[in-house]
Amino acid sequence: MQVRHLEISPPLLLAPMAGLTHSALRTLLLSYGGVGLLSTEMLSARSLPVESEQASPFLVRTAGERPLSYQLLLTAEEEVEPAVEALHRFGADAVDLNLGCPAPRVRRAGGGSALMDEPGRVRNLVRRVRRATSLPLSAKIRLGEALDEDRLTGFCRMLQDEGIDLLTVHARLRGESFSRKPRWPWVARVKAALAIPVVANGGIFSVDDARRCLAQSGADGLMIGRAAARSPWLFAQVAREVYGVDIPEPCVCPPVAFGRFVTALQERFRPERRLGRLKEFTHYLAANYPFGHHLATAVQKARSVEDAWTAAMAFFRRCDQQGLARLEQEAGGIDLPAPRYPPLSQQGA
Ligand SMILES: Cc1cc2nc3c(=O)[nH]c(=O)nc-3n(C[C@H](O)[C@H](O)[C@H](O)COP(=O)(O)O)c2cc1C
Repeated sequence: MQVRHLEISPPLLLAPMAGLTHSALRTLLLSYGGVGLLSTEMLSARSLPVESEQASPFLVRTAGERPLSYQLLLTAEEEVEPAVEALHRFGADAVDLNLGCPAPRVRRAGGGSALMDEPGRVRNLVRRVRRATSLPLSAKIRLGEALDEDRLTGFCRMLQDEGIDLLTVHARLRGESFSRKPRWPWVARVKAALAIPVVANGGIFSVDDARRCLAQSGADGLMIGRAAARSPWLFAQVAREVYGVDIPEPCVCPPVAFGRFVTALQERFRPERRLGRLKEFTHYLAANYPFGHHLATAVQKARSVEDAWTAAMAFFRRCDQQGLARLEQEAGGIDLPAPRYPPLSQQGA
């Protein structure tokens, strides 16, 4: 999938997810391969210009995390130029606009899905972002407040006319929960109305889901969210089995994923930034086990990364001895990976 000068290959995108799509998860995903475009979490356009790439846990990244799209949460026009300038400075490969977040806090501030209620404001915002950057520019939307094809396709055509290069559609209405079946055929309606690439998102947890989503949506690509934390090997599986990409078969083993994730946390984040991120990630990874809530709860209760590690190893010893053996083999033991923060590049700075 070609978007301006950026080739997204395979057309498999990581969804922006607050609390999840940070440097450690991206690093874990890269260890398996198959991701065509990585993403940050949503970033407040207002605070971006004053944040430091080294200090902000939302911005910290390594050179290997590419291509990387930065998602902007915009609420006012005057935020556009300073925020885009910051993204240029950070070396963004693409810019995404959050037009779908249903969180009340975000809506009250006039951002996320609240913007879909005001097409005139969105038009002005997109026009201004388009003028400020020549980077690939995408937008991410939900289907809207209620099913209304004319309204939805009219909104999407407006985005295209204002210079959006790629559109991701999370196939749910604004008020629908993540447990509801996604409406993939509605992505096909958007696709039929547009000339730009359309990416389908929502409810892809397996290679079969990816195939069915593509069949029902006719989308040009897929975006995967929660499954990135639950099954970080899924991108590699879909890349191989759906897109025929020639990469090694991924190691499907939750303890190994846990170990790699903790290693990346220990390398990238200050000590006080690690535990919350580990809890958030483990909540999803635990779903691989029939009694995974024991793992999630044990990590949830932990007061330190050390405690969380010990609890997780005890769980794997009880429920996944084979997986634990693979972790031991890969890591040369089952001790907590040593902290290596700050990264070498920042030491002595
Ligand atoms: C914990 C969490 C945080 C999220 N944060 C964002 C966000 O920052 N920006 C955004 O556009 N969507 C956000 N989303 C929505 C996801 O990008 C995606 O649209 C949604 O999870 C559906 O895809 P999935 O079924 O593959 O998870 C978030 C979802 C979750 C579960």
